[in-house]
Amino acid sequence: MNVLVTGGAGYIGTHVAVELSNAGHGVVLLDSLANSHAEAVRRVERVTGREVAFHTADCTDPVAVDRVFTKHTVDAVVHCAGLKAVGESTEQPVRYYRTNLNAVLTLCEVMHAHGVGAMVFSSSATVYGDPETVPITEDMPLAVANPYGATKLFAEQVLADTTAATSGWSVIALRYFNPIGAHPSGLIGEDPHGVPNNLFPYISQVAAGKRDKLSVFGDDYDTPDGTGVRDYLHIVDLARAHVAAVEHLADASGYRAYNIGTGTGVSVLESIRAFERASGRRVPYEVTARRPGDIATCYADPSAAERDLGWRAELSVEQACADAWRWQSANPNGFAGG
Ligand code: NAD
Ligand code: WQD
Repeated sequence: MNVLVTGGAGYIGTHVAVELSNAGHGVVLLDSLANSHAEAVRRVERVTGREVAFHTADCTDPVAVDRVFTKHTVDAVVHCAGLKAVGESTEQPVRYYRTNLNAVLTLCEVMHAHGVGAMVFSSSATVYGDPETVPITEDMPLAVANPYGATKLFAEQVLADTTAATSGWSVIALRYFNPIGAHPSGLIGEDPHGVPNNLFPYISQVAAGKRDKLSVFGDDYDTPDGTGVRDYLHIVDLARAHVAAVEHLADASGYRAYNIGTGTGVSVLESIRAFERASGRRVPYEVTARRPGDIATCYADPSAAERDLGWRAELSVEQACADAWRWQSANPNGFAGG
C-alpha cells in the first residue's frame, strides 16, 4: 500500500514511516516542521535505505494537502500531525483546537475528494481522563481532561461520524499509552524542544548531564511506591501497531478504537532505576509537589488490539531505555546537531 503519514517528521511519524517501509509499504511524509526537523526525514532514509517523498505542508491548509494527494497515489493515511503538549494546550486552547481539529477536518475533506477512505488516527489514552479502574478497556467512559484531550476526543467523534456517513470508509483510532525509547539504530528518536514535558526525555537529559536532577511529581499517590504509574511502550512496538492497523483497514470497514499499550504499569521510581541500569549513569532526583492534572495510575488492557489486529507489545522498558540512551548519546543536540 502507499501510505501518507502526516506529522511524518515527528517522533511517532518517523518511526511509523520506518516500520511501514520495512513491511514493504510505500510512504509519503507530510509535515509542517512546526515541531520537527527536515533532518529527521533524511534519517528515515538512512534507516530504511530508501528515498522517501517528503512535503513540507500544513495539514490545516486544504490546497497544500490536496496537492500531495494529487501528486501521489494514496491508499491510506496515518494521521499523526498535531500539537501535543498538555500544559501548552491549557494556555493556548484556541491554537490547539484550531490546529488539531482543522487538520482532521481538512484531511477528511481532501480524502473524500480523492476517493481515499482509509485512515489510522493518533489518539491518546488521555481520552479516558481519570479512569475509575485499571486496566482500561476501550468501552470505558471517555472524559475531557484538558484542551489537548478534548481535541483527541472531538477528532475521534469527527472520524466516527464521517465513517458512519460514508460508505467504504474504514478508520482506526489508536489510543496510545506512553510511548518511550528510540529506534535501535540510534538514528531517530524523541527530540523535545526546550524543557521536556514527559518523564523519559527528562530522565534521559539528566543522565546525559544536560539537567541537574529530575523532579518526581509526588510520592503520595495510592500506588505501590507512591509515585505515578503509567503504561510505557517502546516506540518501535507502537510504530508496528500502525502497520498492523493499516493492513487491517484493507479488509475492514467502519470505525474502531484500540488501546495501544503493554498492559503493565511502571512507576516513576521504577523508570528511574531502569534508565540507570540501561545507561550506567546516575539519575539524581528530588520529590516535589504533584503536577496539576496528573492521575495516579493508567495502564491499558490491550487485548482488543491483539485479537483484531494481531498486534501486541514485544519490547521491554529496559530495551526502550537502552535505545533512548543510544539515541541521546549519539545525538546530544537532537536533529539540530545534523
Ligand atoms: P511530534 O510533535 O514529534 O510530532 C507531530 C508532528 O506534527 C511534528 O513533526 C509537527 O511538526 C507536525 N505538525 C504539527 N502541526 C502540524 C500541522 N498543522 N500540519 C502538519 N504537521 C504538523 O509528536 P509525536 O509524539 O510524534 O505525536 C504524534 C501524534 O501522536 C500527535 O497527534 C500526538 O497528539 C499523538 N500522541 C502522542 C503521544 C506521545 O506521548 N508522544 C501520546 C498519545 C498521542
Ligand atoms: C509520566 C509520569 C508524571 C515528568 C502525557 C500526556 C498524555 C500523553 C502522554 C499525548 C507521571 C511523572 C513526569 C517529570 C515526573 N500524550 N513525571 N517528573 O502525564 O502520563 O502523559 O504524555 O497524548 O496525554 O498527558 O506522561 O511522561 O508527562 O508523565 O515525575 O519531570 O511521570 O507525574 O506520573 P503522562 P509524562
